[in-house]
Amino acid sequence: MGDYTNMSAYYDLIMTSGYYDYQKIVDNIVHHGEFDNVLELGCGTGLILQELVTRHPAIPKVTGIDLTSAMLNIASERLNPYPNVSLQRQNVTQFDLQSTYDLAFSYGGVWYFVVDGDNEPFMVSHLSAHEDNCRGIERVAGHVHSGGRLLLGIQGPHHDYQRPIKNGYVYSQKIEPADHGFTKHYYLTDHDETLMAQTIRYRVYPLDEALALLADNGFQFDRQTGIGSHFFEFHKT
Ligand SMILES: C[S@@+](CC[C@H](N)C(=O)[O-])C[C@H]1O[C@@H](n2cnc3c(N)ncnc32)[C@H](O)[C@@H]1O
Repeated sequence: MGDYTNMSAYYDLIMTSGYYDYQKIVDNIVHHGEFDNVLELGCGTGLILQELVTRHPAIPKVTGIDLTSAMLNIASERLNPYPNVSLQRQNVTQFDLQSTYDLAFSYGGVWYFVVDGDNEPFMVSHLSAHEDNCRGIERVAGHVHSGGRLLLGIQGPHHDYQRPIKNGYVYSQKIEPADHGFTKHYYLTDHDETLMAQTIRYRVYPLDEALALLADNGFQFDRQTGIGSHFFEFHKT
């Protein structure tokens, strides 16, 4: 189900050591058009929202939801100075914020697309059960008003590797194929000591199935304009 408790204490260290480029992610979000209110699905420790509200403090309403309390605790502290930001512990398969948004997005959060050269892109989900994906997309659709947009992040292909990050720690990841997707093991080590180990089971959707699932919930993809450098963009009918 995408629980990041084990990684939470080291998440910022790993991600800000070159795993994600938060400035470019936010450049891409704002480049996709204007919005007065925005919802991040799987906001984690709040690194994207912090970059967004630091650069655009006048956005009236900014909401982040996440499943993992330990990640949200870090996000709450980080985003405490910003009264326009609210955070909620919610599972995307069940949430109901009693509100609709101009823009919802997920980057590395619940869903994302993998683009790998000329190969057909595919969608990766932190939800391993198909029924959960149907419920989750339906819940997202209930939170984006007609004419609003959904952005789902684009990442490169996953592969096994290890590399040193800050403090002399070594981050590594290992991918194993699994039914309808893959399992990803994340590790952080300090010489012989394992500081963090986390395993997440991901579901994979071929592009046509992903676009059909999204279209069934009113999210239309335009092949000509829908693929940006960091996001696939969907318009809510
Ligand atoms: C890789 S982190 C991305 C965090 C943030 N978007 C960032 O870019 O730093 C994935 C996040 O998705 C959250 N997540 C996974 N499954 C979820 C679900 N079913 N509902 C809500 N959040 C979920 C995890 O708790 C985790 O914080």
